[in-house]
Amino acid sequence: MSTASDAGFWDRSSRKYAKSPISDQAGYERTLERTRALLKPDDTVLELGCGTGTTALRLASEVTSYLATDLSAGMIAIAEEKRAASPIAGLAFRAATAEALAFEPARFDAVLGFNYLHLLRDLPGTLRSIHTLLAPGGLFISKTACLGDMNPLIRLALPMARALGKAPYVSVFRAPDLKQLVSAAGFDILCAEGHASRGRDARPYLVARKT
Ligand SMILES: C[S@@+](CC[C@H](N)C(=O)[O-])C[C@H]1O[C@@H](n2cnc3c(N)ncnc32)[C@H](O)[C@@H]1O
Repeated sequence: MSTASDAGFWDRSSRKYAKSPISDQAGYERTLERTRALLKPDDTVLELGCGTGTTALRLASEVTSYLATDLSAGMIAIAEEKRAASPIAGLAFRAATAEALAFEPARFDAVLGFNYLHLLRDLPGTLRSIHTLLAPGGLFISKTACLGDMNPLIRLALPMARALGKAPYVSVFRAPDLKQLVSAAGFDILCAEGHASRGRDARPYLVARKT
């Protein structure tokens, strides 16, 4: 199993994903508001794992340029349809990974990744690519499901769901592990917040600065 098979999973899931409602709308709005406050009008922004572009369409008008990317061409095709319906200057979508983008010359003031880091096969390697993609002092803003902090039944169900093609590749870690990996990739963690509306929040919102 590989990144190519992950792309296949997300391509197959893309239409269904586009129709699924946001599980915690108020929590999502808190994340958007907080992120908006961190971005500046002259910023160039890269979003990784952007899915169908919901967040990009909400944030892109706040900055000079916003490149929203995803491994899945199916997700990007839906994002393009949404952009065609509500065009925003400076917003572009592209099927790409952090690793591929890091070989290109563009560097960004902020890199965003929401509900994305737990899906990576080589989290330390991708964090190093994100570090490369940022301009000096740039911000890496993320919100990530830490499955190690969630109900163990979810972890137990995952292998069967994956075998049946009903779940993607997922990496299991706890919030302290994630913070340690982000720091080890060359970032100062400026804050770790919980934006969930209810229950125990196992999706830390992290703001980290490239050192
Ligand atoms: C759970 S969805 C989240 C989408 C969006 N960020 C959101 O919060 O709604 C995860 C997305 O990450 C993408 N993804 C998975 N692995 C990836 C990788 N290695 N590089 C880039 N995107 C990836 C998937 O295609 C999918 O669109």
